[in-house]
Amino acid sequence: MLVKCPSSRVELVDFGSGGGFDGFVPISQSATKQSPTNQRARLDRATRGLDGPVAVVDLDAFDANAAELVRRAGGVPLRVASKSVRCRALLRRVLDRPGFLGILAFTVAEAIWLAGEYDDVVVGYPSAERATIAKLAADPVAAARVTLMVDSAEGLSLIRRAIADVPEPATLRVAIDLDASLRLAAGRVHLGPRRSPVHSVPDAVALARIVVGDPAFRLVGLMAYEGQVAGMPDRPLGKPLQAPILRRVKQASVAELTERRGAVVAAVRELADLEFVNGGGTGSIETTAADPSVTDIATGSGLYAPALFDRYDSFRAEPAAYFGLDVVRRPARGIVTVAGGGWIASGPPGHDREPVPTYPGGLRLIGTEGAGEVQTPLQGHAADALHLGDRVWFRHAKAGELCERVESVHLVAGAEIVESVPTYRGEGRTFL
Ligand SMILES: Cc1ncc(COP(=O)(O)O)c(C=O)c1O
Repeated sequence: MLVKCPSSRVELVDFGSGGGFDGFVPISQSATKQSPTNQRARLDRATRGLDGPVAVVDLDAFDANAAELVRRAGGVPLRVASKSVRCRALLRRVLDRPGFLGILAFTVAEAIWLAGEYDDVVVGYPSAERATIAKLAADPVAAARVTLMVDSAEGLSLIRRAIADVPEPATLRVAIDLDASLRLAAGRVHLGPRRSPVHSVPDAVALARIVVGDPAFRLVGLMAYEGQVAGMPDRPLGKPLQAPILRRVKQASVAELTERRGAVVAAVRELADLEFVNGGGTGSIETTAADPSVTDIATGSGLYAPALFDRYDSFRAEPAAYFGLDVVRRPARGIVTVAGGGWIASGPPGHDREPVPTYPGGLRLIGTEGAGEVQTPLQGHAADALHLGDRVWFRHAKAGELCERVESVHLVAGAEIVESVPTYRGEGRTFL
């Protein structure tokens, strides 16, 4: 409906985009169609005349990645995860393609904003934005386009209180967030993200009954994000012994979830006519698409293909998003310092969350400094060929977070910038 619009628990956590594994993640050059030399030359040439830091998206790679995501989904529609894009022009570019049907947003404020253009915006997370929820209930057009996510009776009460003073509130569209984690040993082992408390068929049915019994709400969907599959790289670098274990965890998890999600969907469908059942992420498209209960699959990171996504076996994506920082010092032989720091990805702190110096090859962060606060020293054999003002190209470990550091993204085709477009931040929108 797009307008074209107890005590000894074992846990693996942070299975959002990317896994939860430390270890330096190298660039998969095989995933890049351009040779490293060509790619560096293209990016340098396209952005000559622009001061750093500059963020670019290689449209050739971005479009190829979008096509590959659609191919991997095998006919199941995709819902773009806006948190992993954070740029309206690029969301539009994706949503203009066949195969993408709507948006998985990350806050209610963002969803209302996007609902100005799109009529299928699901907020992928529960929200405590009470004033904004009231605003949604007061706006029947937006309320018909935005779906709120709930995972508890307490969350429903929060929404009720938020809209209590709205005169004639619109009925709010609601979806239930089903926990997709794998629980073993009677719940003592939890494999997957710590998200929804709704895990079993009875849990889901109990919450669904509350929703359908309240005229303030309409139950329209269900979501179950299997982060321990989608966000877990197959080959965590530096931890080769984990790979076979991870493979088995993923297999077991997919089998368990397919059965449980199917049973939950069937039971909830007895109570409400669900418009959608969402699952998955970039790292799980094939297995999520194979689950007959799923009607659309969330994906976003696979468009930019950040560094954490180099280490999956089941798919290849072309690095599409880069940022360039300029050399400002040459403190010693074999070391250059670029202006700009941070660019660290969310998740458990570790080397795999650091930005990856990519072009020229042969540079690395210095262990004692990492990505600095306002400047970042880099070490390696490529350093001595660099001069003040030369540009070093990096990849972020994750996708959308890059856009929180820049106001615009330069879209590169061939060796030229074809358009410079604002990020969410550039539009004055920092939602989280
Ligand atoms: C609810 C939800 N769905 C899907 C995804 C997958 O998004 P991506 O494809 O960007 O990894 C995530 C990532 O954390 C998520 O939180």
